[in-house]
Amino acid sequence: MKAIILLGAPGAGKGTIAEGIKSATDYIHVSTGDMLRAAVKAGRPVGLEAKSFMEKGELVPDNVIMKIVTERLEEGKADARYMFDGFPRTTEQALMLDEVLDGHGGRVEHVFLLDVPRDVLVDRLSGRRVCKSCGAVYHIRNIPSKVAGVCDLCKGPLYQRSDDTEETVLNRLEVFKKQTQSLIDYYEKKNVLVRVDGSKKKEDTHAEIVSVLRTAFCSS
Ligand code: AP5
Repeated sequence: MKAIILLGAPGAGKGTIAEGIKSATDYIHVSTGDMLRAAVKAGRPVGLEAKSFMEKGELVPDNVIMKIVTERLEEGKADARYMFDGFPRTTEQALMLDEVLDGHGGRVEHVFLLDVPRDVLVDRLSGRRVCKSCGAVYHIRNIPSKVAGVCDLCKGPLYQRSDDTEETVLNRLEVFKKQTQSLIDYYEKKNVLVRVDGSKKKEDTHAEIVSVLRTAFCSS
């Protein structure tokens, strides 16, 4: 069981890049944010536990996160390759992930840190729209749907995430700033951190990451 991680602030483009990598490779996309939103929508106990934290832009407790991630990994094959998006968020989660992967003879191979200036992050989050039916992500100016408010892929209605309000966005960015440096240090020490300019066009960021993955694959 091997893994790569997309690490970056809210709005850095983790979900957008993950969609592209998923189509170009055999990585299984695991987004803790998407899993939590699905649990909230379905009224599952884990969703009820997470909801109030998410609404305030705070991190959901590590034990809740590890429960959903471990369950997800147990569904997969032993030789599966995972791409985590929005996980781990704390050093504790990173340590627990290493333990789980180690138990399956696996490891984290690369951690891509998407670097994006704060003003760009705020602009991206305030303009983000998501399809209610299929989850496709758009931006009202940067990556607009062909018809305003309607998903290109499934014609579902587009909505604004409840945590994309100004107050919650500012708190999410603050929480990220506080939690991330220790996580970056952790992966830097392990020699798996790759810094990527996430402020470029999504195609360029995608190409940079895929090139690292191909080089690593060819030399393994
Ligand atoms: P989560 O869903 O993970 O949110 P996040 O990390 O805040 O990240 P986002 O989904 O907001 O942004 P993104 O980087 O995926 O950007 P996107 O591709 O959408 O988590 C939500 C909440 O759940 C957390 O606050 C927390 O409460 C909880 N949670 C989740 N995981 C947790 C964990 N491990 N531990 C504890 N709590 C956890 O792009 C953003 C916008 O920009 C879009 O409109 C997109 O179209 C546009 N865009 C993307 N790329 C580009 C580009 N290159 N150029 C122009 N526009 C772009």
